[in-house]
Amino acid sequence: MCGIVGYVGNREASPILVEGLSKLEYRGYDSAGVAIIENGDLTVKRCKGRLKNLENNLQKKPVKGTIGIGHTRWATHGEPSDSNSHPHSNAEGTISVVHNGIIENYIKLREWLGSKGYKFYSETDTEVIPNLIDYYYKGDLFEALTKAITKMEGSYAIGVICKNEPDKLIAVRKDSPLIVGLGKDEFFIASDIPAVLEYTREVYLLEDKEFVIITNDGVTLKTEDGEVIDKEIFHVTWDIDAAEKGGFEDFMLKEVYEQPKAIRDTLTSRIAGDAKVSLENIKFTKEELDKFDRVFIVACGTAYHAGLVGKTVIENLAKIPVEVDIASEFRYRQPLITKNSLLIVISQSGETADTLAVLRDSKKLGATVLAVTNVVGSSVSREAHHVLYTWAGPEIAVASTKAYETQLIAMYILGLYLGEVKETISKEESSIIKEEIANLPSKVEMILTQKEELQKFAAKNYMDKDVFFLGRGLDYAIALEGSLKLKEISYIHSEAYAGGELKHGPIALIEKGTVVIALLTQDKLKDKMISNIREVITRGAKVLAIANEGDKDIEGVVDGVIYIPNTNPILTPVLSVVPLQLIAYYMAKEKGCDVDKPRNLAKSVTVE
Ligand code: M6R
Repeated sequence: MCGIVGYVGNREASPILVEGLSKLEYRGYDSAGVAIIENGDLTVKRCKGRLKNLENNLQKKPVKGTIGIGHTRWATHGEPSDSNSHPHSNAEGTISVVHNGIIENYIKLREWLGSKGYKFYSETDTEVIPNLIDYYYKGDLFEALTKAITKMEGSYAIGVICKNEPDKLIAVRKDSPLIVGLGKDEFFIASDIPAVLEYTREVYLLEDKEFVIITNDGVTLKTEDGEVIDKEIFHVTWDIDAAEKGGFEDFMLKEVYEQPKAIRDTLTSRIAGDAKVSLENIKFTKEELDKFDRVFIVACGTAYHAGLVGKTVIENLAKIPVEVDIASEFRYRQPLITKNSLLIVISQSGETADTLAVLRDSKKLGATVLAVTNVVGSSVSREAHHVLYTWAGPEIAVASTKAYETQLIAMYILGLYLGEVKETISKEESSIIKEEIANLPSKVEMILTQKEELQKFAAKNYMDKDVFFLGRGLDYAIALEGSLKLKEISYIHSEAYAGGELKHGPIALIEKGTVVIALLTQDKLKDKMISNIREVITRGAKVLAIANEGDKDIEGVVDGVIYIPNTNPILTPVLSVVPLQLIAYYMAKEKGCDVDKPRNLAKSVTVE
């Protein structure tokens, strides 16, 4: 996720672009840049780091001009660096582009453009765009852009300016957001409304493949065939704070709702139809994988819970024994790491101190390290031998939601990849799972429509002192995650237990009115879970069940049921965690807690 802005008007573009970018920093903040038409020439300023760095550079050496584009980056292809920062330009510096999205076929396009003499100076996917436009440019920027996008696969919101047409800004989108702000004698483009709210409340919300051509004379919307589009103006009524959160009350809720997109992005180009899983730069041979006698998954907090799911997935699909541990425990227990070990570290931030320490110690012992992280250029991504990025975009709320979902997806991608290379799963088995994985984003969307029921449950139970979560197998891993979410943002005491452990102690805690949330999405374990549920009900518990659609037999047993859409049993965690995230969220809201910044917690734990 990145943020783009653009300005055409009579004022100096530079401060307006920087101000707009500051409102989009929630979309990315590892580097920033602007390109401005200055005295008929294109001037580009860009640098690694927070927007403040760019602002300081612009203060030292201002760029004058009234047409420009800007970008705040969250790296996906190429680590944060000056040369990977946007805007990107063609070699002559006559065309500059800002881009949000992912050009999936950029490697092929680079090769093709390379064969025509084009040179590249960054590691980004974006750099192919100004060069493609250059290739097609015959004096008409709009025409060149329409041709360029026919070559591009993936998602994009693009803003382009060109030295040869210095009075013009052109933009287009596909699967990445883009709006056009309509001020008085001045016009804007932006990835999101907050960037323009200071100047106007009148916007166009662009649809896929709609182009906008902006000059000082006004705004024209066109299709790729050049037909003019007549579009309704949208009047924004939100205040700036709500707008930054996309109209949601909190970043956490926004991020919960971003999960379908985060899952789709993480799957992009890795799982496509029936083709074998492809992991960009990660390429193991069967012999290399057969050398690993054990996989260790190590992480903290929510990432550790993703690892628990990863264990079952990798053991089932790739038939390698997997040990999962909490980084702070693993690093002090002299684990049996050897050169035949594959260590998978999972970390949203890529900066968690204990996880990083495990990575470093294990490398010294000869392990091969694969990092699953959300932050390109983070410490774990730089120090691991291999990196599988989760493309969740920046996660602002302290409670991890969309990053967790994408960590689960990373576990499936890895499990399938290892299974395919090791030949431990059949093509049929792999196809069935891939087909179902592709359906997960829309199934998460279906669960999100049940929010009222979850809200009601929260309103009824938010005063409770304790909440217990129960599950077996993969459901137990989700019970742990649900319990962590609840305690960290609502401060309600909660515990998660494996159903089979109840009689070994925890059942002593159940009394009249105790709330128990029971997961029973694993068909093979369902009867055993129903027995556990009956045991707690007998002792007075009120039970909310999370079950598969169609499991009507549970209805007569429990006080309430939340159904998740049917899917392959190995994939249910991606769905069953969503109601638990929402329960935690609504309980915390009922209690008046600051869900985005819970007390005593930091987003990233960079010290021991
Ligand atoms: O950045 P990391 O994934 O390494 O962070 C690990 C934990 O600190 C993190 O998941 C934490 O448990 C979250 N606050 C949970 O919501």
